[in-house]
Amino acid sequence: MRPPGAQTLRVLPTAEAVAEAVAERLVEALARNPELVLALPTGRTPLLLYRHLVALHREGRVSFSRATAFQLDELLGLAPDHPARFAAYLTRHLFQHVDLAQERIQRLDGAAPDPEAECARYEDALAAAGGLDVALLGIGDNGHVAFNEPGPTLQARAHVAVLARQTREANAGLFAGEPSHVPTHALTLGMAALLQAREVHLVATGASKADILRAALRGPLTPQVPASFLQLHPRLSVWLDTAALGQNEAALS
Ligand code: GLP
Repeated sequence: MRPPGAQTLRVLPTAEAVAEAVAERLVEALARNPELVLALPTGRTPLLLYRHLVALHREGRVSFSRATAFQLDELLGLAPDHPARFAAYLTRHLFQHVDLAQERIQRLDGAAPDPEAECARYEDALAAAGGLDVALLGIGDNGHVAFNEPGPTLQARAHVAVLARQTREANAGLFAGEPSHVPTHALTLGMAALLQAREVHLVATGASKADILRAALRGPLTPQVPASFLQLHPRLSVWLDTAALGQNEAALS
C-alpha cells in the first residue's frame, strides 16, 4: 500500500554517504532560509552528520548564526552537569563547534522541578519560533521518534514519556552499559510538532533498522510504531544506507 504523503526515499551506499548527503541538504536549506528552525536528534545515527556539518562550517560553507535549534528530547532527572544529558551531547557534537547563537539554542531541561510545566514552556517556545522548518529524526529500534514511545496512544504535544525497556537498553551505553541506570522517564516533543514541521528528514543507517523501517514506512499507522505516523507528512524524506534498506527494496520502492 502506498503511503498517503509524498515520500522521497534516498538510499546511499554507506552511513558516511548518508551523513554527507543530509548535511548538504541542510546547507541548502540554511542558504535558502538562514533563519531556519531545526529540531535535532541525538543517538548514534546523527554523529557522522554532525561531524560533516562542523567540517562544512569550518570550511565557511554554512552558517547557523540566524538559525534556531530545538533539542528533540531529553532524559529526565539527570543532574545539570551529567554528561549523558542530550543537551550535553548536542553541545559536544555540534553547538560548541558552530556559530549558533546561545539564545537561539532551545533546550529541554531534564532537571526541571516541574517537568509538565517544562513541556508547556517548550511548546510555547516552539510556537513563538513559528514551529519547525526542519525536523531531523532518527528512529528507535522499537519505532520511536524523539521519545514518542510505542503504546496504546500517542501524544500530540511535548510531554513526559515513560521509556520502554528496549529504549533504556539502547541508551545504556551512556550509563556504563547498565540499562537500570538509564532514567525511566524523558521529556520529548510530541508528534504534532514533528508532523507540522515543513520538512521531515528521517535518517536510518545499519542493518538493525531494516525491520522497523518497513513497519514504519509501509505498515499500518499505529501508536505501537510511532514513526508510522510520519507517513502522513506531505514532505517526508527518508535517508538510508544500503544496510538499513536490507531486504526492503521491493517493499519500499
Ligand atoms: C534515541 C533518541 C532518538 C533517536 C533514537 C535512535 O534514544 N531518543 O531521538 O533517534 O533513540 O538512536 P540511534 O541513532 O542511536 O539508533
